[in-house]
Amino acid sequence: VALLGLGRVGSAVARLTLGDAWCRAAFTITGALVRNTAARAGVPFPVVSDARALLDSEPEVVVEVLGGIEPARSIVLAALERGIPVITANKSLLARCGDELFDLSERTGTPLRHEAAVIAGVPFLCAFSGRPFASRVSHLSAILNGTSNFILTQVASGTGFDAALDLARRLGYAEPDASLDLDGTDAAEKLTILARHFGGLSLQPGQIARDGIARLTREDLRCAGAFGGTIKPLACAAWADAPAAWVGPAFIRGDHPLFPVRGIANGICLESRLTPPLVFSGPGAGPEATAATILDDVLNAHRTEPVVRGTGAIGQTAEGLGRVTVSEPPTGWFVRVSHPADRLDPLGVADLLSTFDVWIQRTSTPSDTAAPNALWLLTHPCERARLDAALHALRAAARCDTCTVRVVETTHE
Ligand SMILES: NC(=O)c1ccc[n+]([C@@H]2O[C@H](COP(=O)([O-])OP(=O)(O)OC[C@H]3O[C@@H](n4cnc5c(N)ncnc54)[C@H](OP(=O)(O)O)[C@@H]3O)[C@@H](O)[C@H]2O)c1
Repeated sequence: VALLGLGRVGSAVARLTLGDAWCRAAFTITGALVRNTAARAGVPFPVVSDARALLDSEPEVVVEVLGGIEPARSIVLAALERGIPVITANKSLLARCGDELFDLSERTGTPLRHEAAVIAGVPFLCAFSGRPFASRVSHLSAILNGTSNFILTQVASGTGFDAALDLARRLGYAEPDASLDLDGTDAAEKLTILARHFGGLSLQPGQIARDGIARLTREDLRCAGAFGGTIKPLACAAWADAPAAWVGPAFIRGDHPLFPVRGIANGICLESRLTPPLVFSGPGAGPEATAATILDDVLNAHRTEPVVRGTGAIGQTAEGLGRVTVSEPPTGWFVRVSHPADRLDPLGVADLLSTFDVWIQRTSTPSDTAAPNALWLLTHPCERARLDAALHALRAAARCDTCTVRVVETTHE
């Protein structure tokens, strides 16, 4: 096995390979690629800074855990050209260069496996391998960013947003700059990989609508609780009708399969017309859990993992993958309306929204004095444009602020 990268994940792969008797018998590390070879004295395999030398040592498998696009992209392409199977945990690479890499993998018949790129500690893609009927997933909702889930779980239990972020940093769950976690970029990258795998969609992260979680307050989470649910950082995609994909905080009810996925955990709920929702959850990252998933992929390196091509399209080839336009289907909305000075009249708000054909299912006012001039609403499903127009009119008429979060429900009865 040639390791591209010997950072947190690469070192964990090396530790597991060298430290476990079974692994020692099964694998040999032929070498590792890093930037700074000087800092690697004492490592019991060659550590190099020249990728060509590493590929020339003719490894049977390449494990790519460099991160980023280049040089990872060029080295993975070179390995696939030479017929060397590649295992990667690099979501950014697959999200941005997936078309090119999977096309080459398919053309050369060289496997490119990526179980650790999404929900790294939970091997779930393999559960669908060779199972075309189970794979007829029509839409999915997922918690793909553990940092955001940890923060919202803390906020739901009464911690302020900034204190929850500080705690995530202290526990090592968040980088000093957590912006890519909080603004949905990390989850959008992972969603492109899932949408390709299960829906045959070719998406770039930039095509996916993204809302961050930083605008949410303790009172929003408390109110979501009063409505019988909570707010989770979701990534959703659908392709049975018009392709749809978005990332952002969403209100889910207590019976949603992702409701119990708390803290740093990740989860995915895959839905189809054939089965009730299939749910997988567990650690989304962590060097040791990721390394275990990677080594299982190494063991299966010579098996090609077929990319599923959308609902019902069993056996469709790569030509069926087309860049798509992403739409946003109508949904229910969880809305906070707040006035800087005065209490809002729920009936007046409902009246105004109804003139835009936006209909309210439930309202709630705060039970304490933390946000006395706020009002929360759950609407019936409507298009985003209609809701935006209604809230624009409300803000102008009542001189208030609004904050909206989608409502996500499973379709299974
Ligand atoms: N950390 C996790 O829990 C986790 C979980 C799932 C997936 N992943 C993914 O796994 C990948 C690696 O993550 P990580 O946390 O292990 O990253 P990391 O700690 O930053 O390690 C990156 C490694 O790649 C090497 N490297 C980077 N650029 C290079 C270049 N231009 N030339 C040669 N070597 C280079 C670095 O060399 P130096 O050591 O010399 O700097 C380092 O050894 C990422 O794609 C990440 O998204 C991580």
